[in-house]
Amino acid sequence: MLGLGKKTSMTMNSDNPLPRLVLGYDFDRWNLLGEKEPIQIDLSPKTNSHILLCGMSGSGKSYLENQILARLALAEPDGEIHYGDYKQEDSFKYLRSCPRYYAYRDTLQALDVVHGRLLARQSGEDTSRNPVTLAWDEYMAQMLALISENKKASAVAMGKVSEILMLGRSLSVRLIISCQRPDALAFPAGSRLNYGVVVVLGAAVRSIYEMLLPDHMEQVKGRQFGRGEGVILLQAAELHYIKVPMVRDAPRMEDICIRALGGKQ
Ligand SMILES: Nc1ncnc2c1ncn2[C@@H]1O[C@H](COP(=O)(O)OP(=O)(O)OP(=O)(O)O)[C@@H](O)[C@H]1O
Ligand SMILES: [Mg+2]
Repeated sequence: MLGLGKKTSMTMNSDNPLPRLVLGYDFDRWNLLGEKEPIQIDLSPKTNSHILLCGMSGSGKSYLENQILARLALAEPDGEIHYGDYKQEDSFKYLRSCPRYYAYRDTLQALDVVHGRLLARQSGEDTSRNPVTLAWDEYMAQMLALISENKKASAVAMGKVSEILMLGRSLSVRLIISCQRPDALAFPAGSRLNYGVVVVLGAAVRSIYEMLLPDHMEQVKGRQFGRGEGVILLQAAELHYIKVPMVRDAPRMEDICIRALGGKQ
């Protein structure tokens, strides 16, 4: 089991001053040797840290997202996180009164705000570069609903997502998207490839692996994963098997997330 650890171990280490984010632990080392080797990503603008998190219902996406929010908040104390919760899940109930929490259709407002920040930075009007993150749970479900309701609005929203994916890294604007199956319908023009970090949790679903890990099918063949376990692909090159730990101190994690979304100031 894992707590949130000391701040120093989550943010910087002495060999590498870049901010880093732990996403989980090496699955085989944990299971075979009982060792916890963190799998972490570089959060600096040098590296693409847009995250795509997939997996069938109950695979542990929202559970991991909570941990990502808390860890991100600790790793980037000057960061600004917006959270879109399309399904209004119980997992995020505690965030509902936060200024940067957006429920159901309001998630599109979060997209507008974050995309607006991107454009202001791009035009030079805004010279700040503190990290701005939009984390969006159940993106696919929301896009499918929007496509059937208002095709034009869905195209506009997807255009904004694509712009953040393409321009966000150098302007310190980041996307974290979660969905069950990342169908091409809501990921136009190969935009799945623009995520530097791809996580697939839970049962191995061949069609999802084919969409997200086409060059790594041999490596994932025959592997089995349960809830909170799966595969992570970093920068389209480095594949690991990952295990997401249990949260040891939920009240502390929730408190960090609430503050990260502008609550309890
Ligand atoms: N790594 C984990 N360790 C312990 N419990 C976990 C872990 N991951 C998920 N769970 C538990 O499993 C249940 C399902 O997880 P979660 O809600 O995150 O799934 P999900 O992928 O978001 O599903 P859905 O697509 O339906 O929203 C939750 O009750 C959660 O507490
Ligand atoms: Mg969920």
